[in-house]
Amino acid sequence: MAIHGDPFGARSFVKQNGSSEIQAARKIFREEVLAGLSKPARQLSCKFFYDEPGAHLFRQICDLPEYYVTRTEIEILRLHGAEIATVLGSQIELIGLGTGAGSKTKILLEELDRPAVYVPIDISREQLERSAERFRKTFPSLQILPVAADYLEPFELPLPRHLSSRSVVYFPGSTIGNFEPDDATEFLSRVVELAGEGGGLLIGVDLQKDRHVIEAAYNDSAGVTAKFNKNLLARINRELGADFDLAHWLHYAVYNPAEGRVEIYLISEIDQAVRIADRTFEFRAGEKILTEYSYKHTINGFIMLARQAGFDFGRVWTDDQRWFGVFYFTVL
Ligand code: TRP
Repeated sequence: MAIHGDPFGARSFVKQNGSSEIQAARKIFREEVLAGLSKPARQLSCKFFYDEPGAHLFRQICDLPEYYVTRTEIEILRLHGAEIATVLGSQIELIGLGTGAGSKTKILLEELDRPAVYVPIDISREQLERSAERFRKTFPSLQILPVAADYLEPFELPLPRHLSSRSVVYFPGSTIGNFEPDDATEFLSRVVELAGEGGGLLIGVDLQKDRHVIEAAYNDSAGVTAKFNKNLLARINRELGADFDLAHWLHYAVYNPAEGRVEIYLISEIDQAVRIADRTFEFRAGEKILTEYSYKHTINGFIMLARQAGFDFGRVWTDDQRWFGVFYFTVL
């Protein structure tokens, strides 16, 4: 396929959102929800948080005074962007994993020297299309090849590599913290393949800190985080015709210092039965559904984790309080 010098041809990579595709996605959603709620320790995958309303709520979370994560990562990019750009090099291909609305990527691209290609990969198609449109206007000479995909599953990169000096995978937002350590290593070893020989990884990682700071970030006083967490149940109602009564579910987030992670649950406030598809689930009062782990790493711990995956540590940039780290690694 001739993608060379054809920035508009790139649009064809965002396929039409056909009804069969929606049905397929809904089937996966239903199967994963039913399987997760059937486990002895019930759980729902955090990747399902980000439908349209969920993505909207998450953007609100990012603006909350208590949610230091996004603000601190952006501050690091602004403060050290020029240096980061120098380390990443000229005319690179940037592969963005879950870059969402793209506000961090925009800062990075503005700093980079003549970036050649930007491949945003995101599960939220609407968001992907919208931000790709905006990026085309802001960076007219950049080739933008959006891929609507779940980056946890295998997917194909849409272009020949020889246009750029090297590929750098960009994984902001501390999403890596949502993986259990073994899964994080396995995931990063796939990222090694994605970046390829001579490639790199720029990744945002939330660091261990005072537990009160962490817990406040996941229990904001305005209740947006609670809404965001409960939207998962609302989405199951909307898409699978379930009858979760949101008034009887509680958002609960607690830091577990022994594991170095925030554990986020939905707790049933009463004994209740919920109908999903053709199944009925009984929940006892106080019973939990795990919706997310958010691991907080130490700098050295994360360097070791990445090394196990096949990455050589390059640099880390942090804020003054060392709350968040932006790490650069190269393929070993
Ligand atoms: N990945 C984000 C994080 O770990 C998502 C997030 C923020 C989140 N607040 C939340 C997930 C509350 C569930 C509930 O910081």
